[in-house]
Amino acid sequence: MALREQVALMFSRRGVPATADNVLITTGSQQGLDMVGRTLIDPGDRIVCESPTYIGALQAWRPIKPQFDGVAMDENGMLIDQVDTTRPLKLLYVLPNFQNPSGVSLSLERRRKAVEMAHRHGFIIVEDDPYRSLRYSGEELPSLLEIEAGMLGADWNANSRIIYLGTFSKVMAPGLRVGWMLAPTTALRMFVLAKQGADLHSSTLNQYIAEALLRNGTIEGNIPFLVGVYRERRDTMIDALQTYIGKRGTWTYPEGGLFIWLRVYGANAQALMAEALKHNVAFVPGDAFFPDGSGTDTMRLNFSCMPPDKIREGIRRLGELIAEMQPAAPISGD
Ligand SMILES: Cc1ncc(COP(=O)(O)O)c(C=O)c1O
Repeated sequence: MALREQVALMFSRRGVPATADNVLITTGSQQGLDMVGRTLIDPGDRIVCESPTYIGALQAWRPIKPQFDGVAMDENGMLIDQVDTTRPLKLLYVLPNFQNPSGVSLSLERRRKAVEMAHRHGFIIVEDDPYRSLRYSGEELPSLLEIEAGMLGADWNANSRIIYLGTFSKVMAPGLRVGWMLAPTTALRMFVLAKQGADLHSSTLNQYIAEALLRNGTIEGNIPFLVGVYRERRDTMIDALQTYIGKRGTWTYPEGGLFIWLRVYGANAQALMAEALKHNVAFVPGDAFFPDGSGTDTMRLNFSCMPPDKIREGIRRLGELIAEMQPAAPISGD
């Protein structure tokens, strides 16, 4: 109860009139995705998602056999205007901040549009937001949940269409497996029953740890440190991409999170990865993040887990391999 209250407080401070009754503690936000699948998704349901999208959601929901309808993105996130609302739509899955895998964020205007569309056309939004606190530049934007709460006021709990997934994995420790779902109480009751069927409850010891670290300010107090370390790593990787990949590809500029999305003209990312691993360089080939398996020339680079000198060297090695694969392409960046 104490942890649920703390989570509810985080949101009520941002204008969402949530109480502990709107919060279910989950075994990481990955379990939240599983709970959504178990309770809300039926075979054949149409799920609109970003293309590319988080691979863990595809993994959680694929066994149910929904139809994934991937919508393209630009530097402002999913092209919300391209969501086809003329066909039945069960839910919109969106990662508004520093999306995994692309690193891109959804603009304020598109956040508002998505919320309005959900209410106009009667679909659910699953807002998966693990990276919000890890912002290195740009201005913080309200979550879709906050926008909706502003729109609905006192009717929020009765009329909300958003299921928000949060986690302590990215700001505390992923191994503790403590996350949460925040949703209207009617939906939350379904998730509670589904969770009981899955694992009865998440580790109470880990919940105590999370609650204590939240209450005594440790989690909040550590964020500036994380932001400082990750910002330097992001900047190093961006700089190295400019130097060693240059005009051979394009990449995103994430304002936070852990990932840069790289597209290399004409590359086969799977083959490139096999070569890169021989040189001790790893990335995730991008096709796994596309609901339709496209994006074979894309890759997700993680800048959070290595110190700057290793990031620079890793991108240098990757650049060399790409140059060997594309001898005809221009060499230097702008
Ligand atoms: C978008 C997204 N959702 C959910 C998760 C799952 O996080 P956890 O289960 O550790 O809270 C991740 C982890 O990488 C993620 O990137």
